[in-house]
Formats: sequence, structure tokens, C-alpha cells
Amino acid sequence: STGRLWGGRFEGGPSEAMFALSKSTQFDWRLALHDIAGSRAHAKALRAAGYLDDAQAAAMDEGLAELARQVEAGEFVAADTDEDVHGALERGLKLIVGDDLGGRIRAGRSRNDQIATLIRGYLRDEIRLIALDVDGVVDALLSQADANLGAVMPGRTHLQSAQPILLSHHLLAHAWPLVRDIQRLRDLDARLAVSPYGSAALAGTSLGLSPELVAAELGFSSSVPNSIDGTAARDLIAEAAYVLAQIGVDLSRLSEDVILWCTAEFGFATLHDAWSTGSSIMPQKKNPDVAELARGKAGRLIGNLSGLLATLKGLPLAYNRDLQEDKEPIFDGIDQLHVLLPAVAGMVATLTFHADRMAEVAPKGFSLATDIADHLVRQGVPFAVAHEVAGESVRYCEGKAITLQDLTAEDLPSISEHLDPGVLGVLTVEGSVASRDGRGGTAPGRVREQADELRGVKAQL
Ligand code: ARG
Repeated sequence: STGRLWGGRFEGGPSEAMFALSKSTQFDWRLALHDIAGSRAHAKALRAAGYLDDAQAAAMDEGLAELARQVEAGEFVAADTDEDVHGALERGLKLIVGDDLGGRIRAGRSRNDQIATLIRGYLRDEIRLIALDVDGVVDALLSQADANLGAVMPGRTHLQSAQPILLSHHLLAHAWPLVRDIQRLRDLDARLAVSPYGSAALAGTSLGLSPELVAAELGFSSSVPNSIDGTAARDLIAEAAYVLAQIGVDLSRLSEDVILWCTAEFGFATLHDAWSTGSSIMPQKKNPDVAELARGKAGRLIGNLSGLLATLKGLPLAYNRDLQEDKEPIFDGIDQLHVLLPAVAGMVATLTFHADRMAEVAPKGFSLATDIADHLVRQGVPFAVAHEVAGESVRYCEGKAITLQDLTAEDLPSISEHLDPGVLGVLTVEGSVASRDGRGGTAPGRVREQADELRGVKAQL
């Protein structure tokens, strides 16, 4: 047996270059155990429809179990002559149960419905593991948020000083998108849990095989309602590629913050030695390579998604061989995140934050200006006027080369008649932070509350 699943209508074998182009075992072998699980389920459908008797069905099932064992042990591997994982495994089955019984497994199915089912099963397994790793990063952010609850920092928009915030608030702002990514993976799993088996090449099977039986055997919740869609659609693979890319982008944004924080100019944080690298020439260097690789891999993950969408956009229904090109990008995305996520979790968990430095920078850049305006509004001044007065306060301080925190009661009358000494009470970083006490705000009580809320959401996942 050649491991090729066709040939009757051809005079010779494929040319060498044709075969080299067509061959996919070098990447689709990772679906081997899913392929065998599909075959065991399919054999049950063949038995139920009367194409295998009890003895044949039992021998088939035992043969497939033995094949799975050999694959897991590395005793059975794809040969150079095998075109794809499906052909290789049919060859392997025949070696165990003989050509007659082994040659019966293929009735009523096609590689088109097989591959569409296997990739879904594979992704269901893998995204469960990815979700656990994403959760590890969320845990690292949460534990840093808990450990640094007192620390303030400069909050920024446009990378310019904006308003003081709590470091924990900022860290949790990186955690929430990752929690939504986990939710996206869960949502996607429900859509992946629909089995295309039984669609055959495109039109369904004439042999009376039950797609629902196969779906149930494989732990899917149902079978596809449309056999053409079942074999031709790859939107779910693209959706998986999107969620992987989004995880990459979320890690990348977190990483960019870490990279900035660890510069001498910011000085907000220091990387642990175990999660940084040195320079071969500059002895002083301690580089944030984990964060930079996260940023870099995000580009790669986006490329995988866009490549896959480009592959799909012009394809007529139903199956086209182009669809084979869905495998490597999605496998790559999974592999990259498996190495990246634990490293990002380790980097975050071991960061040392410099609370004094962050507190020193927090009031810089006139970041308390909004607090003056808000104070005046509480005194009944229209916000437009309050905004002007706060702006004049900034200009006044700029002229004297002081910060808003340095203002005294003597300064106020020369800035504006609206300013009462009460304003000095809000011109502290702590006062500013404590005043933002609505739901979702940066006040310590609210940040503690959202950390608990995040733990609650995580527990529901
Ligand atoms: N290897 C193909 C894929 O990954 C599945 C095989 C379908 N081949 C075919 N000639 N119909 O999509």
C-alpha cells in the first residue's frame, strides 16, 4: 500500500514535484490522534448502518486503538510515500487489521469532511490549553495589583501626563482584555463543537451513515446542518486565528508598557534577572526581550490571520485544495502562544515596581489640573469657567517653575477670584486618586472592588 488514497483512474503515479507540493504529512501529522478518533466514530456509524458486522466492528475498533498506541509511542510514523495523515493512517490500519477490513473504513467519508472535523477537534483541545495560559497572565497581573495596592502612578493619554491613577488600576486594565479573550475562546468552542463528519466530499453520504452518531462519539454537540458548508467553510479557523492574534495584540500592549517602565527615563519597574537578557558587548544592559518578543510575535499572529483570510476570500464552494493552507498558520499561532504566554506571565509576576519614583512623577505635567476644575464645579462654577481657571493655574505655575501641588493660599488671588483655599485640599495625588470614586474609577476602594469583580468573572469561566 502506497499511502495514497486514489489512483484507479491514473496511469502512473504523480511526478516527484507534484507529490512534493501536495504532501502535507510534515504538518498534518499532529492531527493523527484526532484522525484515528474520527475513524473509530466512523466505524461505529458503519456498524450501525450494517456495513460492518459485530466481529468486523470489534476488530476495526481494536485495530484503531492499536494504531493510536503505535502513533503515540512513535512506532508508527508517516512514510516518505504518504501524501497526508489520512492516507498514512489508512496504510497503518491495513498493516494491523489487513487489507480487506482496513479497506472498508473509507466508505461514506472523504478527506474533505475528515479534515474539517479533525481541525475543529484539534482546535477545541488547544484553545482550552491556551485559555489556561492566558489565565496565568491574568493571575500574574492580579497578584501584582494586590501586592501594589497603595502605589500611585502617572496616568497617561497620548503618552502625555494626564491624571494620577493607581498602579493596580492600570495593571487590571491589562487584565480585563485578556479575560475577554478567554471568553472569546469559550464562545468559539461552542461553534467548533459542530461536526462536519458525514458531509463526505460535499453532498453528504448515500450510505445511511449517521452524522449525529459520529458527532456524539467525538464529543461534539451536533453535526453540521449543511454538508457543503461543513466541508468548505473555514470561518471558524479564521475566528480562532483572530482570537490568537487578539491575545498577541493584548500581550503586545502590556509589553510596550513594561518596556517603557523599565527604561532609566521612566524608572517605574525593574525586570527580574530570570526574565531579561544581557548584551554581548554592553556589560550594563538588561534587556526586556520577553516583552519585545511578545510585541514581535503579535505581528506574526496578525500575519497568520490576514494570510488565512486572503486564502479564503476568492474560493468558490465547495472544497478547494487551497484550504489545506489553513493548517500551518493556525498551528503556528498555537505554537507561538504556547511558548509566549508562560514567559509573559513569569515576566509580569516578577516585576519589581518603584513606588517612590512613580509617586514622584505622578503630579508632574500638571496632572492635577482637572482636580482644580472639578473642585470649582463642586463649588457651583460652570465647567467651562472652571476649565479656564484651571488652565490659568497651570500657566501661573509654569511661569514660576512650580507644580500645582506647590501652590499656596497667597498664590490664589493672583490666578483667579474663583479660587478659594479649599482647592489646596484636592491638589495632592492621593486626594485626586481618592476623589475618583465612581464605579470603575481609580479610588482605592473601587480598585479593590474591581479586583474582586475580576476574580468573580474568572471563577465563572
Ligand atoms: N490535506 C487536505 C487539507 O488539509 C485534506 C485532503 C483533501 N484533499 C483532497 N484532495 N480533496 O485540507
